Order: sequence, then structure tokens, then C-alpha cells
Amino acid sequence: MSTEKGLNITLKVWRQKNAQAKGQLDTYEMKDVSPNNSFLEMLDILNDDLINQGDNPVAFDHDCREGICGACSLHINGEPHGPGRNVTTCQLHMREFQDGETIYIEPFRAKAFPVIKDLIVDRSALDRIQHAGGYISVNTSGNTQDANAIPIEKENADKAFDAATCIGCGACVAACKNASASLFVSAKVSQFALLPQGQVEAKDRVLNMVKQAEAEGFGPCSNTGACEIECPKGISIENIARMNREFLSASLTK
Ligand code: SF4
Ligand code: FES
Repeated sequence: MSTEKGLNITLKVWRQKNAQAKGQLDTYEMKDVSPNNSFLEMLDILNDDLINQGDNPVAFDHDCREGICGACSLHINGEPHGPGRNVTTCQLHMREFQDGETIYIEPFRAKAFPVIKDLIVDRSALDRIQHAGGYISVNTSGNTQDANAIPIEKENADKAFDAATCIGCGACVAACKNASASLFVSAKVSQFALLPQGQVEAKDRVLNMVKQAEAEGFGPCSNTGACEIECPKGISIENIARMNREFLSASLTK
């Protein structure tokens, strides 16, 4: 049994009935919160209390609660996914906070991420970017080459794998003063640009994905690097440089 002292905290939570409504920060006092609770478990407890009082629970996104789906998306004390590094909101624990602390919880803020309700934003813009080019075509004629039979330089395989760990959470957008999706797009471009399987559609991929990001209203990259710091998967901005090289080369040769 844990002997750790419970935390008394004040929550300032963004409440907004729907996309059209004007939102505001509401205040909730939480008593004796276990430091071992995850941040989302703490919100579950808040919601149980609200429901028991006949109030509306706070709407927030979550699914796997294991750091792999990218659904959880809270701006906590001014940082996407809160104060931890390389963790998603669902992996954040209350032990990261102090007794007596006031915690501000807001939705990810970006023009391309409209608020749906409370802390839930619409991130389907990222899906549309993915649809614009984040795939490869595979020959299914019966003559398909076994992927494992194609030699790939270890360094490239590692970098492609690192890029493929992007979970599409959108924290990079929320962290960026320009609300740029460059880290996300560059991860999706890089995971294929580094592999032979990605070469067939390489030019169309980078041109179409960058074009779609602009059409969705994401801003330009100005190399501040905030995205890399807040990314829960540690995606490197080296991928943005690679995407820019791919884009320039495709623009000149297509
Ligand atoms: S690059 Fe990082 S912060 Fe951006 S969507 Fe992917 S995992 Fe999330
Ligand atoms: S709920 Fe899936 S990554 Fe957090």
C-alpha cells in the first residue's frame, strides 16, 4: 500500500460547449490526489465527481493510454503533453506536480485544430495530410518482392524507424508559434524517403503532403525547435531538413 501523501491541487480547465460557443477556464479543487495516479486517471476522478454532482464531465480525448495512439492531447501548464519529456499526456503522472499547485489544462491551440468540445480538438487535418501521400503502393500481382530481401543500410533503417514512431498527436503543432505541422509531415515523409520502397512515389509524396499542410492552414516552419522538445516520441528536426531537401529536389525535377 502506498504511503505517499495525497496532493491537493487546483485545476483550471478549459470548458467549451461546442465549436461555436465561447469557452472559459473553470476552477475545480481536487483533494488527496494520489501521486501515483496518471494525469488522465486524475481527470477520470474529477469527472466521476462532476457526474455525481449532476454536472457535465470534462470532455477529453484518449484511447490506448499507453503512449501509442496519439489521441491524448492536452496543453498542461502551457506545454503540449505537460511538463514531462518524451511522454504523452496518458503517460504523465501526478507525481510530476507539487502539493498546492494550480494546473492549467487547455486544448491544443491551432487554427487547423478547431475545438469540438472542452479539451477535444479536431485533428483530422493531420489525417488528410497523411492521405495526400503518406503511403506506398505495393505490387500485389503475385511477384511481390519480400521486403526483407532488399538490403537497407543500417543507419537509414534506424532513421526511418525513428521517423515512423510519430503517433500523429499534433503536439508539434501546438508547441509551434506558427502552428506549423512541419515535424509531423517531415516524419511521415522521412519514414519512406529513407527506404527503397518509398522511392516510387517520393516526389509526389513530399509535394502533395506539403501542399495539403498549407491548405489545412498550418503555418510555416521558422526553425525554433519547440516541436522537437515537446514531441513525445523525440522526433528530430533533422527530419524537417530532409523534407525540405526532398521538397526542393522534387520541385526542380518534377
Ligand atoms: S512529430 Fe511528434 S509531436 Fe508531432 S505528431 Fe508526430 S509524435 Fe506528435
Ligand atoms: S491515449 Fe493513446 S497515446 Fe495517450
